[in-house]
Amino acid sequence: MSKALDGIKIIDFTHVQAGPSCTQQLAWFGADVTKVERPGSGDATRTSLQDIPGADALYFTMLNCNKKSLTLDTKKPEGKEVLEKLIKQSDIMVENFAPGALDRMGFTWETIQKLNPRLILASVKGFNDGHFYEDLKVYDNVAQAAGGAASTTGFWDGPPTVSGAALGDSNTGMHLTIGILAALQQRHTTGLGQKVAVSMQDAVLNLCRVKLRDQQRLDRTGVLEEYPQYPHGTFTDVVPRGGNAGGGGNPGWILKCKGWEKDPNAYIYFTIQGTAWPQTCRAIDKEEWIDDPAYMTARARQDKIFDIFAYIETWLQDKTKFEAIEIFRKFDIPCGPVLSMKEIANDPSLRRSETIVEVDHKVRGKYLTVGSPIKMSANKVEITQSPLLGEHTDEVLAKLGYNAQQIAALHAAEAV
Ligand code: COA
Repeated sequence: MSKALDGIKIIDFTHVQAGPSCTQQLAWFGADVTKVERPGSGDATRTSLQDIPGADALYFTMLNCNKKSLTLDTKKPEGKEVLEKLIKQSDIMVENFAPGALDRMGFTWETIQKLNPRLILASVKGFNDGHFYEDLKVYDNVAQAAGGAASTTGFWDGPPTVSGAALGDSNTGMHLTIGILAALQQRHTTGLGQKVAVSMQDAVLNLCRVKLRDQQRLDRTGVLEEYPQYPHGTFTDVVPRGGNAGGGGNPGWILKCKGWEKDPNAYIYFTIQGTAWPQTCRAIDKEEWIDDPAYMTARARQDKIFDIFAYIETWLQDKTKFEAIEIFRKFDIPCGPVLSMKEIANDPSLRRSETIVEVDHKVRGKYLTVGSPIKMSANKVEITQSPLLGEHTDEVLAKLGYNAQQIAALHAAEAV
């Protein structure tokens, strides 16, 4: 079966997570992705959090599937020459070096355009060009802090908290993927590449837009009725941390189920959907609440929503999270179990949808990775192992037109 990006050649000059998540997704769309890494060491994630001595760490193997690896010292003249050749023959170059690093290497946007006007250059930085913090090196959690996620995550009596989801890293990578695909489409009409840039701060903020919504509502009315602070607590002039409250108009909370004392994930997320009130009452054996004026509307329930959740928790005491969901699903109530990573790793549904995939790696053996979250009927994704450092160096050089003698000279100069 053909793939969406068949024939598209990508220079993957990325490292750590934000950039590699983007190029891995493009590889899953069928692009020919060559990862360019520094000889000897390669992407730092090959060795960070290593669990098997001598084998690429999972951090690397889970972000670099379906790619080739070319080692290249792009600070040496011979290495620069190879990169120039690659640029001339590629469609896209993706990078997420520290601000200015690519320029310092000699590959400014102007230089790249001269080498190949059709090339799309896609970059991730912590902050936008021209931002007060434009020069900062940034990792995921910094972006979560600067993008509004940390100040609005966690409980009101605790400090700002970052999410376990890589909002600054993989999320930025997915934003970059969208920009690259749009630029590729525009190239059909203009014949030209362009620069695509996504800052990690922007990508986080883009997911936190409801909190900017809430700031403006708070400025106007002084309260946020769907937050746990209403009506019994107090508000300041900034959006507070709302614990596990639902972000929209339907109140929700994380509720304890049977076994929570020993199992840290014996919980469900439960939503009281306004229109589902009658069946919610039936499901939790509280039919008398259906027509009770003190409970029958969302407004009437507002000041006792935590009493209602407390009642449901008591009702859940003798039910596991899975038993609870089996009951609620019959009543069409929006809810779901809190799943641990162990449960996710072994979930047969996620294996069936190839969302969790087992890959065989020639050094580390079998490992699990997250498959493509984008399912397409005409783009079947087969996930293959991540490359060893420099595994495809000679193959890529040969395709660029270097003969065996020239390749040997590049090795001797330690340029590859
Ligand atoms: N050959 C020669 N030099 C290479 C090279 C290669 N193949 N690959 C990288 N380098 C050089 C860079 O040119 C740079 O040199 P310079 O500082 O002399 O200009 C150097 O290696 C270090 O690169 P840098 O990007 O600064 O790496 P770092 O490990 O110090 O910082 C980050 C890592 C992630 C903090 C930084 O790259 C960054 O802020 N990136 C943008 C934001 C981002 O993507 N963060 C998310 C990461 S998940």
